Amino acid sequence: MTSALHTSSLTSLPLLARGKVRDNYAVGDDRILMVASDRISAFDVIMGEPIPGKGELLTQMALFWFGQLGHICPNHLTGEAPESVVTPAEVAQVKGRSMLVKRLKPIPVEAVVRGYLAGSGWAEYQAGQSVCGVKLPAGLQNASKLPEPIYTPAAKAEVGEHDENITFEKTVEMIGLDLATRIRDISIAIYKAASEIALAKGIIIADTKFEFGLDKDGALVLMDEVLTPDSSRYWPVEGYKVGANPPSYDKQFLRDWLETATVDGKPWGKTAPAPKLPAEVIEKTAAKYREALTRLTA
Ligand SMILES: Nc1ncnc2c1ncn2[C@@H]1O[C@H](COP(=O)(O)OP(=O)(O)OP(=O)(O)O)[C@@H](O)[C@H]1O
Ligand SMILES: [Mg+2]
Repeated sequence: MTSALHTSSLTSLPLLARGKVRDNYAVGDDRILMVASDRISAFDVIMGEPIPGKGELLTQMALFWFGQLGHICPNHLTGEAPESVVTPAEVAQVKGRSMLVKRLKPIPVEAVVRGYLAGSGWAEYQAGQSVCGVKLPAGLQNASKLPEPIYTPAAKAEVGEHDENITFEKTVEMIGLDLATRIRDISIAIYKAASEIALAKGIIIADTKFEFGLDKDGALVLMDEVLTPDSSRYWPVEGYKVGANPPSYDKQFLRDWLETATVDGKPWGKTAPAPKLPAEVIEKTAAKYREALTRLTA
């Protein structure tokens, strides 16, 4: 395994943006180098310590899924090696943790698909028996599997803002009926295919988010990361019980620890800076990410 990387510092390529986890660099005007760092965030705050191996595991998972889903929708991978666009001295920062992708025109809709009731979906259901305007049958409980996966899009928020849930009709207004419908149908098809594959390996994908873009010929392409524990809720089947909050695969241990963490003798207020993570929390979290990839690809 490569050494832990909190923040990349490539100087041979122009930095486009740093997300919570990834650092994105322009490669000419038609490609992007996406470097998944080992940063981890919880409660929307980035921790100061990296989780060794996390970036590599996330990238390997996304690549695994792109490989499984190519028959449903084309993706943004160029097939070129990320190491080929940086200097020899920078290869160590990039290797194993990066994707070299086609630079697409992003569609401002986050394509969320939910197969189970969880988090904000469960809260909304309790308040009005629907999720993002989608009416659901009565009698569902926390973590219940939905009769059919539902599509609950969100509008991509500006940096630092939270995404806003919108109706399917609103996406039609934004991007037109044809594109809105194709994105919805492809997203549901991908979710169904992926959740079957994952379930056979002992992982429930409760919900997930996809992003799409248009290439220079106007074709619809799946982009960003796909079906990683960062973009999806992964639940190990053995911890799953209807009516209870299933532990999330990857961040539960960190979240539980943060709930009890103190700063200057007071409970941490969930704003930056985060408390310093103990070695045990880092190692247990790293182990969870390793386990998720091992299970999936076993
Ligand atoms: N092939 C692509 N072409 C163009 N833009 C892309 C492509 N793939 C992903 N993107 C965009 O690049 C950005 C990736 O950034 P990243 O996910 O690292 O950070 P973020 O989405 O701003 O923040 P967060 O850390 O909350 O995810 C997103 O805005 C995504 O929509
Ligand atoms: Mg993102």
